[in-house]
Amino acid sequence: MTPILNRRALMAGAMTTGLAGTLVSASARAASPPPMLTARAEIRPDDTDYWARVAAQFDVTREVAQLENGNWGSMARPVEQAYQRHLHKVNADNSYYARRRLWGDLAPVRARAAALLGVAPEEIAFTRGATEALQTLIAGYNRLQPGDQVLYSDLDYDSTQAAFRWLKQRRGTDLVTIAMPEPATYQSLIDTYAAALDAHPKVRLILLTHVGHRTGLVMPVKEIIALARSRGVDVILDSAHAWGQLDFRLDEIGSDFTGLTCQKWIGAPMGVGIVHIRRERLDAIDPNMSEVGNSDHGTASRVHTGTPNYAGYLALNDALDFHDAIGTPAKEARLRHLRDLWAENLRDHRGLEILTPGDKRLTCALTSFRLQGRTSVEDNKVLAAALLDRFGIFTVHREGLASGACVRVTPAIFTAEADVKHLVSALRIMAEANL
Ligand SMILES: Cc1ncc(COP(=O)(O)O)c(C=O)c1O
Repeated sequence: MTPILNRRALMAGAMTTGLAGTLVSASARAASPPPMLTARAEIRPDDTDYWARVAAQFDVTREVAQLENGNWGSMARPVEQAYQRHLHKVNADNSYYARRRLWGDLAPVRARAAALLGVAPEEIAFTRGATEALQTLIAGYNRLQPGDQVLYSDLDYDSTQAAFRWLKQRRGTDLVTIAMPEPATYQSLIDTYAAALDAHPKVRLILLTHVGHRTGLVMPVKEIIALARSRGVDVILDSAHAWGQLDFRLDEIGSDFTGLTCQKWIGAPMGVGIVHIRRERLDAIDPNMSEVGNSDHGTASRVHTGTPNYAGYLALNDALDFHDAIGTPAKEARLRHLRDLWAENLRDHRGLEILTPGDKRLTCALTSFRLQGRTSVEDNKVLAAALLDRFGIFTVHREGLASGACVRVTPAIFTAEADVKHLVSALRIMAEANL
């Protein structure tokens, strides 16, 4: 693999010149060093020229205003091209490569991802996504006794909620569910967990979602994890939407058990995730049934994925090159800027409910809304369909929220401000019609 620092500089050059260069053409330019990307701190979220150059690195549909980037993230062109090269090599060299060199090539990729997350390499292992990572943690967690309680909220991810319900069958636990306050404040979210733990002293395990997929609410995870720990309660953290979108480190927020995905905001190919278990807590997760007897005493012994998409795992390094060339703080600020451009602009419109608060600590790219009083699933399906049919804006309806259904809007780093302004005009028209 090309050394990371060289690659980073090359990527920076491609970005700065705005050229949609392949890594091959970027290598050619390396003979005379490319101009470096603006230092991270200097990238302004509203620097139209800079973000247009970033956008030029993506091949995304122009058929619609693509404002549903929460499902997964498109790879930047250099990442997609690198992925294709990895795919070709894995396909051509087959087992000859996999049995001799693959794991040696993947070791630095894992170490790099771990460093970005603020943990040791052996504390993380690759999975096929956050789902597999979270299932590994939930199924393997061995500290529950019959009669203990586990807790999740209305904002947590559907299949992960289901996995918590499944714990009743597996471990004989009872379930406590809570709803997040609306509108939420930073403190009210912490208080909601404190009150739930006061009311339910048998709770031993909490599912906590870092960035909710229903409304985009960013949770005060550090405080909630500390609160839980002070009462002897463990937390499984779902950071699927957080990694690559928010500037955080797992060691700083104090997470012991974390599920992450690389295919949303890190920009890796689909089918690449990470499970994290803090070294000191490894015993709380059983070895995977297919890893019993494995001499690896790290997180890798807790998950077994068979033969996954190796080319995708290899391309994580290329995705991290692209990600690092911009940097998480700049990405986070840009995404919040795009989000504020519509959500805060329309905050006071009496025909709309913006479901995520204005507090910057509680928001980033994703935010949901509904037309005033329109809480049914059908209403919100119709609303998303109308945005597409009448205005060419692609969003998605979401349900499962205690307060009702909604429509989610998710810009990406390649989203043009013009698309967001188009959404604002469309929502004004639809909200007026609803009054
Ligand atoms: C909050 C949340 N958790 C978990 C997942 C599952 O992630 P993956 O698709 O990587 O398995 C998603 C996917 O959308 C999500 O939004």
